[in-house]
Amino acid sequence: MNTVSSGVVMADYIAKWHREHINFSKLLDLLETQINLFHEDEHPNYELMLDIMYYLTHYPDQVHHPEEEVAFKRVVQKDSRMGPVVTDLTKQHQVIAENGKTLTEQLDAIVIDSMVTRQSIESSARTYIFHLRSHMNLEETALFPTASNILRVEDWAAVDAAIKSRQDPLFGEIVDKRYEALHQQIAREAECGCKE
Ligand SMILES: [Fe+2]
Repeated sequence: MNTVSSGVVMADYIAKWHREHINFSKLLDLLETQINLFHEDEHPNYELMLDIMYYLTHYPDQVHHPEEEVAFKRVVQKDSRMGPVVTDLTKQHQVIAENGKTLTEQLDAIVIDSMVTRQSIESSARTYIFHLRSHMNLEETALFPTASNILRVEDWAAVDAAIKSRQDPLFGEIVDKRYEALHQQIAREAECGCKE
């Protein structure tokens, strides 16, 4: 494996995306816990839910998914039989981004006491959680193994050249101020091994 300028080892993009899926899953678990409180008429932490959604509509939607799509295109170039699954996954990236934006707007609205029904928030949240979990599962089972098998060093070099490296502001080495509370919550509840 060759090291590239960004410091990422080419063939390790799959490992990086896999690690990120685990991180996103932790956030979905936290979000689901809050939605369950919401459902029971308990007191959910809206700020926490908004922090989760702010992250999920920024890092995954604007960094992780576009990165994957660079590799997905390369996979189809090497094996056209992967076309349909790549088309599905790419569409799912758009749907997840749209659903995430809707849920974020609904959470914003409830925080300022604007007109939004509890049922619509719960429905949006459960749909969002289901879609993102299913989507990551499909990538892990139907795409990543093939990408690992058929992409060679020169393919990963092309992928790397097309990707703008950006730090993860929540799970990366430096936690963005915006995410400090969420980072601490993850450390407490999801046992991520992070320092509080
Ligand atoms: Fe992914």
